[in-house]
Amino acid sequence: MTTTQPDPAAGAAVKAADRAHVFHSWSAQGLIDPLPIAGAEGSYMWDYEGNRYLDFSSQLVNTNIGHQHPKVVAAIQEQAGKLCTLAPGFAVDVRSEAARLIAERTPGDLDKIFFTNGGAEAVENAVRMARLHTGRSKVLSTYRSYHGATAAAINLTGDPRRWASDTASAGVVHFWGPFLYRSPFHAENKQQECERALRHLEDTIAFEGPQSIAAIILETIPGTAGIMVPPPGYLAGVREICDRYGIVFILDEVMAGFGRTGRWFAADHFDVTPDLMTFAKGVNSGYVPLGGVAISAEIAATFDKRPYPGGLTYSGHPLACASAVATINAMAEERIVENAAEIGEKIIGPALQDIAERHPSVGEVRGMGVFWALELVRNRETHEPLVPYNASGADNAPMAEFAAACKERGLWPFVNMNRTHVVPPCTVTETEAKEGLAALDEALTAADAHTV
Ligand SMILES: Cc1ncc(COP(=O)(O)O)c(C=O)c1O
Repeated sequence: MTTTQPDPAAGAAVKAADRAHVFHSWSAQGLIDPLPIAGAEGSYMWDYEGNRYLDFSSQLVNTNIGHQHPKVVAAIQEQAGKLCTLAPGFAVDVRSEAARLIAERTPGDLDKIFFTNGGAEAVENAVRMARLHTGRSKVLSTYRSYHGATAAAINLTGDPRRWASDTASAGVVHFWGPFLYRSPFHAENKQQECERALRHLEDTIAFEGPQSIAAIILETIPGTAGIMVPPPGYLAGVREICDRYGIVFILDEVMAGFGRTGRWFAADHFDVTPDLMTFAKGVNSGYVPLGGVAISAEIAATFDKRPYPGGLTYSGHPLACASAVATINAMAEERIVENAAEIGEKIIGPALQDIAERHPSVGEVRGMGVFWALELVRNRETHEPLVPYNASGADNAPMAEFAAACKERGLWPFVNMNRTHVVPPCTVTETEAKEGLAALDEALTAADAHTV
C-alpha cells in the first residue's frame, strides 16, 4: 500500500480551513477536533503525520468494499467521461442496470427501485409510500433504532438524536423491540423474549388502533443502536401481524444490507420479505451518495395509474448508479459477501468470544458477518453499562479512554454509548482482522480499569 508522505504542514492547513468554514454534523462546533485525513485504501486510512489506522468502523459503516476499490473508481471515472448527470425522468443505461442488479438481489417481489441520495431520504420515501398505499398515517418504530436525520426519519429514530427534533406530532409511535441482554420484558431466554416482544407489539397496535397504522419500520438487525440480532421467529411474527392488520412492513437495511451480515441482505438470514426495503451505504460503499427503496409489486401497483408524489433532482444519479453497478459486480466477482460471512464465522466471532472471557468489561458479544457489537459494562453481574445512557463529558470518560487506547494502537474504532462495534469492510482480510482484534484486545484494558 502506498501511503502518502507525512506532511504535517499540509494537515495543519486542512484543519485550519475546516475549523474556519466547515460546520460538522451532530457536534458542538467549538468543542471538536477533526482529524485531517490524507488518504485511504482498502481497510486503512492515514493522516498527515504518518499515522495509519485500520478502519474497524468502515467510516459510518458504509465502506463495505473498502476504500478506493479500483473497479469502482474506474467506473466512476468512465461514467464521468461519458455522462455526469441526467434528470430522473429519462431512462439511462447505468440507472436501469443498477436497478436491475439491486432488484435481482432483494427478497421476494421487491422489484421496483426508487433511488435517493442516502438512507434518510429512503426512509422518508418509504414512509410516504406506506401512508399513501394504506391511507393511514401512523408509523411504528422501535426505541433502539436509528433511521436518519430528516423530518420523518429522525422522528422514527429511537436514540437521543431524535429528542431535539421531536415535535411529538409526527405520526410516530415507538415500541420496544427484542433485546434479551437488556430485556424490556424481563425475559430469560430468546423464545420468551420473542413471544413477549410480539405480544407487546400487538398490544401497542391494539391501543393505537390498527386502522390508523400505515407501517411498522424495523432495522432488520438494529445497527447503531447495538447490533441486536432478533431472536428466531421475531421478524416472521412481525410479518404475520402486519399481514393481519393490513400494515405495511418496512425493513431498513441501510446499515445491515449489501454484505455486512455475510448475506446480500440481513433479511436473507430470517427468510422474511418486507413490503418495502430501504438501502444506502453498502450499495456503492458511499463512493457517490446513493440510497433507495425497493418496492413490492402490490405497493408499486398503487402508483401505476396514480402519480407518486415524491422526487429528487438527483434520483438515480448516473455517477452514483455507475458506482453501484461496479460495486455490486465486484462484490459478486470477488466473493466479498462470502468473505464477510467467513471472516465473521472463523475469525471475528471466535476472537471476540475469547476476548470477552478475558476482559471483565465485556458483558456480551453479538453479531454476524462483519457486523459485531461488544456491550461494555461496569459489572457483568448487574449488566450496568460502562457509561450511563447518552453520557457526555466526564461521565463518558471510560469510553473516551477506550477509544483513545484503540487509536494509539492504530485502530479506528466505532464507539456508541457503552458499546464498541467491530464493523470493518466486508473485504477485510484474515490478517487485517487479526491485527485489529489484537489492538482491540489491548485497548479493552482501559475499559477493564472501570469495572467494579
Ligand atoms: C439503519 C439506518 N437507516 C438510515 C440511516 C440514515 O442514512 P443516511 O445517513 O445516509 O441518511 C442510517 C445511517 O446510519 C442507518 O444506519
